[in-house]
Amino acid sequence: MTGGQEQPGALTAFQRALRTYARAGYPILYLVTAEEDRAVELMSEVLREPELAQRQPYVWSVSRGLCTLDFKPVDKKTADPKQILPALLAFPKPALFVLQDFHFFLDERSPAAPLVIRQLRDLVPAFKAARKTLVLVSSVLKLPPELEKDVTVVDLDLPREEELLRLLEETLEQVQGNPKVDVRLGPGDRELIVKGLLGLTRSEAENALAKVIVETSRIDPDDVDLLLAEKEQIIRKSGTLEFYSTPERFGSIGGLDLLKQWLRQRGSAFSEAARAFGLPNPRGLLLVGVPGCGKSLSAKAVAAEWRMPLLRFDLGKVFQGYVGQSEENMRRALKMAEGVAPCLLWIDEIEKGLAGARGESSDSGTSQRVFGSLLTWMEEKSAPVFVIATANDISALPPELMRKGRFDEIFFIDLPNARERSQILAIHLTKHHRDYSEFDVAEHARNTEGFSGAELESVVIAALYEAFAEGEQTQLEDRHLAQAISQTVPQSRSLKEAIDQLRLLARGRWRPASGEETVDEAQPEAPLAEPPPVAVKRRRIFEV
Ligand SMILES: Nc1ncnc2c1ncn2[C@@H]1O[C@H](COP(=O)(O)OP(=O)(O)OP(=O)(O)O)[C@@H](O)[C@H]1O
Ligand SMILES: [Mg+2]
Repeated sequence: MTGGQEQPGALTAFQRALRTYARAGYPILYLVTAEEDRAVELMSEVLREPELAQRQPYVWSVSRGLCTLDFKPVDKKTADPKQILPALLAFPKPALFVLQDFHFFLDERSPAAPLVIRQLRDLVPAFKAARKTLVLVSSVLKLPPELEKDVTVVDLDLPREEELLRLLEETLEQVQGNPKVDVRLGPGDRELIVKGLLGLTRSEAENALAKVIVETSRIDPDDVDLLLAEKEQIIRKSGTLEFYSTPERFGSIGGLDLLKQWLRQRGSAFSEAARAFGLPNPRGLLLVGVPGCGKSLSAKAVAAEWRMPLLRFDLGKVFQGYVGQSEENMRRALKMAEGVAPCLLWIDEIEKGLAGARGESSDSGTSQRVFGSLLTWMEEKSAPVFVIATANDISALPPELMRKGRFDEIFFIDLPNARERSQILAIHLTKHHRDYSEFDVAEHARNTEGFSGAELESVVIAALYEAFAEGEQTQLEDRHLAQAISQTVPQSRSLKEAIDQLRLLARGRWRPASGEETVDEAQPEAPLAEPPPVAVKRRRIFEV
């Protein structure tokens, strides 16, 4: 399964966008990428398409002036940024001009800015008519408001499987015949390595491969783990995303049967068979609920259950840093997630991240726009990135986030009912190496009305402390649990108003994560708990 878009040998999403814009006469494109060489390569490939074949590619930089792709100068004078745009306007043939790092001259602090911004606007009508396209390529997006209407921003997608496979083959060719490097790859190994590289830029992938070869003097399936570790490092450096590995599975969650059922059904909808059947890729899920009742736990468990990598997206960090950087952070994070797809993008406590957006007071317009770009992406993304967001305080969430189309479903996770409380107690007893059938779990469940899952977990732990304090020979007994229960004041009592209000608001509005209680709900039916979760080996998570 790929990011969902391309066939071998076909154009990438970026190339298709470029072709469409060029044919439709869009005069100025702004491409945000750190991968200049790859961008130029991909662009010149598009120009070989019959309908664009008349356009020749040229590259400009302040160091070289206007050149052909093999760096033959066209006009030396054009190294002056004030000269280049008039020269392009006068250029006699259809062409595609790539301007590298031109954003410096669009910055209001640049003395050249007023002139070049005006020059850019002047060339719009002429370029439309003359089959010329200008592409500004920069690693940062700096677009003065005067140009917003005339410039179309495009993204360079990260390399997908096919391109990475080519890179791997090239690397293998380079080390072939080198007696110091031992290449041992079986039939499926190339694919595994390529999957391990998804989410990186081409040069990052190249460096990661080189590093592994240099460090181990070999390349074999065991290197996949090293590559993944390298990739995790690179992605963590982005500051907003983190690979999250967790042992949690559905078996670690007590109750929430309707949510689990829904997730099981959606989990199979990422397959090619589901596409062939006409199903769209599942898009995302919002979990709203009472604190401590399993929102974050459920998000984590989905990853292992669906066997997909879990990327934790720290929305708060997107909005940190200097003003304007947040746009870059958001763009880069979403591109990376698409690069790693199929994957889960987990936005925990989304309302807190958005509070950060509002806090960027010096430039609230930008934060609104950045948040808007997340919403648009959620709706329009074609790569199989499943967003799981969690929230406690829905009053802090903007209504547009809750609109249909953004998430497939919004579930409300309420305080556990008696049957769920039995299950949760059983799970935590099992996690702490106790046989829950030796305890009166049903009775404890009846006595813990209003307790959250987290509070039930604390009850088990407090009881263990109590028993341990009585002496090494003491076994954990029901009385320890009963005592811990009687000493706990659940939040549903201490924060009654807030929690009641949330429950009232949720009723009938969002889908309940748990089914109705049955009459006999507190009577546990064995088995209540699955065996405690075992640590998931990292690599398995990535076998998608
Ligand atoms: N349904 C449950 N089954 C088993 N354990 C649970 C359940 N709900 C909560 N827990 C325990 O409580 C811990 C905290 O739960 P979790 O982090 O999922 O809560 P949350 O809903 O995300 O709360 P918050 O709103 O405070 O972030 C879990 O790690 C788990 O140990
Ligand atoms: Mg949480």
